[in-house]
Amino acid sequence: MAIPVFVLNGPNLNMLGTREPGIYGGKSLADIEKDCKAAGKELGLKVDFRQTNQEGTLVDWIQEAATAARGIVINPGAYTHTSVALQDAIRAAGVPVIEVHLSNIFAREPFRHHSYVSPVAAGVICGLGPLGYRLALEAIKPLVENSAKPL
Ligand code: DQA
Repeated sequence: MAIPVFVLNGPNLNMLGTREPGIYGGKSLADIEKDCKAAGKELGLKVDFRQTNQEGTLVDWIQEAATAARGIVINPGAYTHTSVALQDAIRAAGVPVIEVHLSNIFAREPFRHHSYVSPVAAGVICGLGPLGYRLALEAIKPLVENSAKPL
């Protein structure tokens, strides 16, 4: 049976395709969702793909993942750099998290160099564009497949 994994996207990622294409590329979030679902099928993961512009909604979804999923791939958008609440939610959830960024946040403005999520993530992928989501799903597979956590 496919293993449930949440792929969560934060603010402004719904604008992908038209938003600063020089930084984020031309793919829409719907394109990335399609790719994630296809990768999930190959990997034996059931991908639940979501986006919100609200910080609290991301917190709600991370809490939901604690019982409804075995792992989380998250691109927290700008909340990466500001949100203690996301770090607390991930700590409490007790499932492995892979943090993804389309752009290389370390090659950009200094305020993007710090992440509140990275210290509680199993791994971080950034700067590889939409491919990062696929790589994150590949990386999370071995972390979730031997989980003894009941669903
Ligand atoms: C981002 C990087 C963040 O700094 C930015 O605020 C985003 C997108 C990325 O995917 O590269 O919204 O997370």
